[in-house]
Amino acid sequence: MFILVDSNTNRDCVPYFLSQVGNNYKFETIEIKAGEIHKNLTTCTDIWNLLTDLGADRKSLMINLGGGVITDMGGFVASTFKRGIKFINIPTTLLSMVDASVGGKTGIDLGVLKNQIGMFSNPEMVLIDTQFLETISDREMRSGMAEIIKYGLTFDHKIWSQIKSSNKIDIEMIDSLVYRSVEIKNEVVLKDLKEDNLRKILNFGHTMGHAIESYFLESEDKKNLTHGEAIAIGMVIELYFSSKLFDFSIEETEQFKNFVINYYGQTRIEESDFDPIIKLMIFDKKNVNGIINFILLKEIEQCEIDVQVHNDLLIDGLKYYLR
Ligand code: GLY
Repeated sequence: MFILVDSNTNRDCVPYFLSQVGNNYKFETIEIKAGEIHKNLTTCTDIWNLLTDLGADRKSLMINLGGGVITDMGGFVASTFKRGIKFINIPTTLLSMVDASVGGKTGIDLGVLKNQIGMFSNPEMVLIDTQFLETISDREMRSGMAEIIKYGLTFDHKIWSQIKSSNKIDIEMIDSLVYRSVEIKNEVVLKDLKEDNLRKILNFGHTMGHAIESYFLESEDKKNLTHGEAIAIGMVIELYFSSKLFDFSIEETEQFKNFVINYYGQTRIEESDFDPIIKLMIFDKKNVNGIINFILLKEIEQCEIDVQVHNDLLIDGLKYYLR
C-alpha cells in the first residue's frame, strides 16, 4: 500500500491517518512537492518510477491523502500504472471533500491548461474525515464553501438558506454540509458520469469563475485568488445573467452579491481586465466548437444548461459585480 502525499499533508495529516488505521498495515509513503504547479507529467513520471522501484504490482493500492492536486493526480497515476491499480481518496481540504475527490475525474495540467490530460476513473472509496479540516486555513475553508454554496443554488435551496442565515459556520454545520454536498454530487455523477448533460450543472459559476481565476493567476500585478473566491464572483455574475435572461430574482441576486462581498471581500477588477477575462473564457475546455456555454438559473434549483450570453451582457455582468 502506497500513500501519496505532499509535503504539507505528510507533516500534518499522515500522523493522524496512521493513528486511525492501527499497526496492522504497512505503508510506503510517496511525497511530492505541494502546489498546482507540480500537477504535471514530470511529477507523474517520478511517482511511476518510485512505485516501480518500491516493487508495486497490480494488486497494490494507492491512497491519495491530500487536496485536489493529490486526489486528481494520484487517481491518474494509479489508473495508468500497469493498466490500472486500485486507489482510495482521502481528501484533506474542504474543496477536495465536496468536489475533487468525488466523481471520478482524474488528471493533470498541461502547461497552463488545467486538467487537460486525464480520464474518468473511480476510486474504490472516498473516505472523508472532517478532522483534517483542522489543518487548513480559514481562507481555504472559505474556498471550499463556494462549492457548497453552488450545491445550494443549483440543487438544494436548504443549503443556501442555512448558510445565508448563519452568523458563524461551526464544525457541526460543516459536517452536515459536507455530507449533503457529497450526496448531491454522487447523485448527479451516478446519472451522468461523462458530463453529457446533468453533470454540467456542477459548473455553475465556473465559466466566468475559471476565467477570473486564470486571469489573476497570470497577471503579475494581481494577487492570486483561491478557487472558491473566483467561483463566488463567477456565481454572482452568472446569477446576474440569469436575472436578465430568465427572470431569476434580482433581489436574490443582490442579496447573494452582498453575501459574497461580505464573506470573501471585494476583489478589484478593472474595466481594462474585462477583455482578457472574456478571451480566457473562449479557451475554456468545456466549450464545444468555440461557443461559450453557461449554466444559468431560472430559479434556485432550476438550472438551464448550455446558454450562450451575448458579449454586451458579459461586460454588464462584470460591471454588476463592481457596482
Ligand atoms: N468539479 C466539477 C465536476 O466534478 O464535474
